[in-house]
Amino acid sequence: MSKTVLSLQGVGIYQNEHKVLSNVNLEVQKGEFIYLIGKTGSGKSSLMKTLYADLPLHEGQGTIVDYDLRKLKEKDIPFLRRSLGVVFQDFKLLPDRTIFENLQFVLKATGWTEKEGIQRKIEEVLDRVGMLPHANKMPHQLSGGEQQRVAIARALLNDPDLILADEPTGNLDPQTSAEVMEVLFKINGNGRTIIMVTHDYALLLKYPAKTLKCEDGSVFEVVQRSL
Ligand SMILES: Nc1ncnc2c1ncn2[C@@H]1O[C@H](COP(=O)(O)OP(=O)(O)OP(=O)(O)O)[C@@H](O)[C@H]1O
Ligand SMILES: [Mg+2]
Repeated sequence: MSKTVLSLQGVGIYQNEHKVLSNVNLEVQKGEFIYLIGKTGSGKSSLMKTLYADLPLHEGQGTIVDYDLRKLKEKDIPFLRRSLGVVFQDFKLLPDRTIFENLQFVLKATGWTEKEGIQRKIEEVLDRVGMLPHANKMPHQLSGGEQQRVAIARALLNDPDLILADEPTGNLDPQTSAEVMEVLFKINGNGRTIIMVTHDYALLLKYPAKTLKCEDGSVFEVVQRSL
């Protein structure tokens, strides 16, 4: 049975009073992998920010992992973010602690208290992205691709229903980007839903999936030959 993890109807996306996207209609089912493409400034990050409630939704209807974006209160936002895994272009790892401690920090901040449970969960997510052998390294001791894999592991900590990745390969060379894509597709193969912003058309050709495009203030699905 398919389950809707994201639904937008007649949504307007704004940066302050500037309207970035109009009449966005989008349904995402559990297990889908979706690319979001478009020129710089076309509104991709603004749309993603609206989905993780960094920008408010004032126009249209939107539900994401059972939260109503129009009715969201300030106090709901941390709970919404826990149901989402968010991955950015810059990995945003804390530079002053090890990989293990980076992940431990997130779990403690999201209410985990039991030491063995924390240990087990961290080992599980690091193993899933192939980074368990690096658990005791500092972020600066890892390559960009390795740091991004840790950032993906961090996004998996609270078993999110939906992963939002804004140019996760934006800072990586083609080979390393391909490795990160393999990790994302493996996670998707385990039933997780992923929406990924990218500029990289070579990736789209190599790893085809449903593709949405932001252009001239609209979002629409494109087929690959017309990219
Ligand atoms: N914090 C902000 N305040 C005001 N306007 C903003 C802000 N961030 C982005 N904008 C504007 O909103 C529009 C969409 O920007 P957005 O960051 O969503 O584009 P993007 O598609 O993610 O671009 P890129 O590919 O360069 O990341 C642009 O016109 C941009 O100048
Ligand atoms: Mg952007």
